[in-house]
Amino acid sequence: MSESPSVKSKGKSKRKIITIEDLPGVGVSTAAKLRAQGYTSIEYIAITPPEQLSQDTGIGKATAEKIVKAAREAIGSFLKFERGDEIFKRYVSSPRLTSGCRALDDILGGGFESRAITEIFGPYGSGKTQICHQLAVTVQLPREEGGLEGACLYIDTENSFRPQRIKLIAERFGIDPNEALHNVIRGAAFNSHHQMLLIREARKFIKDENIKLIIVDSLTSNFRSEYVGRETLAVRQQLLNVHMHDLLRLSLAFDLVVVVTNQVMARPDAVFMFEPTIHVGGHIVAHTSTTRISLRSSRDNIRVARVVASPHLPIREAVFKITERGIEDVEEA
Ligand code: GTP
Ligand code: MG
Repeated sequence: MSESPSVKSKGKSKRKIITIEDLPGVGVSTAAKLRAQGYTSIEYIAITPPEQLSQDTGIGKATAEKIVKAAREAIGSFLKFERGDEIFKRYVSSPRLTSGCRALDDILGGGFESRAITEIFGPYGSGKTQICHQLAVTVQLPREEGGLEGACLYIDTENSFRPQRIKLIAERFGIDPNEALHNVIRGAAFNSHHQMLLIREARKFIKDENIKLIIVDSLTSNFRSEYVGRETLAVRQQLLNVHMHDLLRLSLAFDLVVVVTNQVMARPDAVFMFEPTIHVGGHIVAHTSTTRISLRSSRDNIRVARVVASPHLPIREAVFKITERGIEDVEEA
């Protein structure tokens, strides 16, 4: 059901759309406005709501609608109806990112999925941040070693990013430690508004910086500390929803792996320990994540990861350990 990337419009009929200048209604000044706001990718424009494009760029609503429509048509089947075999082909051909830990890769069906959001949740000290550091390095590995030959955008909301850790992990994977650090772009998010803004800004440099992985560690802590109490819950969830969808759009438009972390809180009303923790982001985060992994501590530095929700993976567990060299398979001890 794929269509050729062309659109019909006055003056630009059936012309192949390759750059934003090829879109109907996009002259020199409109192209400049789009570029200035980071709308440089046809794919990204195609999945941006016209109102947002208009708001961000100052382009009139009617023109924004026309531009988005043309971009959607230009990229063919991606945003239209697709046959199952087409989807499957894209799924199996889309690259996966190794965690550098075989057991964890295995339960994820070969690594972290691109064009999707993976959520890692667990209590304090369960290893969420350690996995994030490791992925920031493994994304830089060559493809034949399970990497994506790209850089990492690391949104750090708890000031837990540690450059020295990146260096140690890089050494283990045979990557020059300084080069590895250079390829991690960290944005410290001081509040939820700032966090959302950083992700909105990211589209401006994802391509140029060859970003292949976005980490948000933690997704929810800012929201949790700012929106306290039941009466603020609706606003918090709505903002988290917008934020998750911003991330999802980036991941689809730029073929990125997106990994977010989320804390779980002890549940004071859990009588039977059936569900002893509460997942902070609630249904919004749980449903927008494609795959969800829960972490729990075992003895010492041993941790257990469990795929708890995925559209295509069974519920399975993997055991790994945290060392000064990152996360490792247990049998490598
Ligand atoms: P919060 O962000 O507090 O919710 O926790 P988290 O899930 O992000 O935990 P994190 O990934 O920071 O894991 C912390 C754990 O890693 C601690 O329990 C430490 O024992 C372990 N850890 C961190 N650095 C090292 C290290 O260099 N060597 C070893 N053996 N363990 C380490
Ligand atoms: Mg952490």
